This record gives sequence, structure tokens and C-alpha cells, in this order.
Amino acid sequence: MKLMFLGPPGAGKGTMAGKLAQEKKLVHISTGDIFRAAIRNETELGKKVKGILAAGDLVPDELTIALVEERLQEQDTKNGYILDGFPRTIAQADALSGFSKLDAVINFTINDEEVVRRLSGRRVAPGSGRIYHIEFDPPKVEGKDDETGEDLIIREDDQKDAILHRLEVYRKQTQPLIDYYREKKSLQNLDASPAPAKVFQNLLALIDGI
Ligand code: AP5
Repeated sequence: MKLMFLGPPGAGKGTMAGKLAQEKKLVHISTGDIFRAAIRNETELGKKVKGILAAGDLVPDELTIALVEERLQEQDTKNGYILDGFPRTIAQADALSGFSKLDAVINFTINDEEVVRRLSGRRVAPGSGRIYHIEFDPPKVEGKDDETGEDLIIREDDQKDAILHRLEVYRKQTQPLIDYYREKKSLQNLDASPAPAKVFQNLLALIDGI
């Protein structure tokens, strides 16, 4: 199954993609995680995108498209994948349709107030990308990853100004994809506002119906 998770920052796409990938043995491909790993490892790509991510702007289409096209040629994607955070522009969606065909696009719906609450309390394990929330999904030991014990961090783009800017960028550049995929009849809406366990239960029901 080839899925794409669409929705504003902080809607829970990464959290749900991680759980679903495990449950359904799919590969979770997050362009945000790929860029953050490149920044951490100080690669050429990392140097190019560091300032863009910190500001909450989008990485140029050509660069992002080439990266995903290459990733989807890898063997582990053959049994299905979840694209989390790609495509994010009409140009990216058009390019994707040239090298892969999605079975469904899951559109996570949530209001801005909740987005700000979720992102302000988010903590991540930089090594694994595991995601926590200080209130809604806290780690077993404060500030430490449950599995590796590594220190959790606050993402640079989870500062208030960057969050508000990312919401603006989402509205201008990514939201048009809702109509784009609706017209292609591949859009499925998912209410992302309930508690994590409930959202996951509803997501599974949606996926099983596809
Ligand atoms: P990316 O990493 O994709 O960020 P995003 O889309 O802004 O999404 P987030 O990771 O912020 O949120 P999420 O929906 O995954 O929520 P999460 O599960 O973490 O992209 C980062 C940057 O990379 C972009 O700004 C851009 O610069 C660049 N980039 C990436 N892709 C690109 C592309 N295609 N083109 C160009 N540039 C690109 O959850 C959030 C919090 O809420 C967590 O704390 C979690 O524990 C909590 N939570 C989750 N679900 C629930 C729930 N149901 N109830 C309560 N809390 C919950």
C-alpha cells in the first residue's frame, strides 16, 4: 500500500506514520526527518537546508523531488510506504505522479490552536526520530528516549514564530493539495484532534477500508 499523509504541521502525521508503519510493515519516509539527519551529519545537503528548516520555509522543489525519487527506487519501498511531508506543493505532487502512484492520501484535519499546543510541547529523540509530547505522550523518564535513553530535544522550528510561519506556508503552498487530491478521488479525511490512541484506531479503520 502506498500512502501519503497530508496536513498542517503538528497534526500528528509523524506520530501516526511511525505507528502505522510498524503495524502494517510499511516504510515510513519523512522528508523532514531526512533533512534533519542531513543537518545533524553536516552533509552538503544539510548545509544547504539548515537555514530553510529553522525558518520554517520549504526546501526548493527540485532538490526535494530528486531526493524522494531516489529514495523510492530503494528495494525496501517495494512492499509499500507512507510518505510523510511529501508532496507539499503542486509541483511536487505532479512530479510524484510521474514516478509513483498513491493508493490514498490521508488528510489530517485539526485547528491552529491545537497545532500550537502540540508543537510547543513536542520533544524528539534526534537519533530515531521518535516523537513525544510533554503532556499528551510523555516519555517514561523525563527528557529521555524510552528505548535508547538518549536526550530528547526541542526542534529548532518549534519556536512560536517559526510555528506560526509554518502554518502560513502550509496554507499558501500545501493546502491546495487537498483539492488536488480530492479531484483525483484519492483523498480521505481523518479527524486528528482526538487523543493519539483514538486517532490511530480511526486511521486503522480507514486504511482497512481502502
Ligand atoms: P516536517 O518534519 O515534515 O514537519 P511538519 O510537516 O511541519 O510536520 P511536523 O513534524 O511538525 O508535525 P507532524 O504532523 O508530523 O506532528 P507530530 O506527529 O510530530 O518538515 C520540517 C521542515 O522540513 C519543513 O518546514 C520544510 O522546511 C522541510 N520539508 C519537509 N518536507 C518538505 C517538502 N516536501 N518540501 C519542502 N520542504 C520540506 O506531532 C506533533 C506533536 O503532537 C508531538 O509532540 C506528538 O507527541 C503530539 N501528538 C501527536 N498526535 C497527537 C494526538 N492525537 N493528541 C495529542 N498530541 C498528539
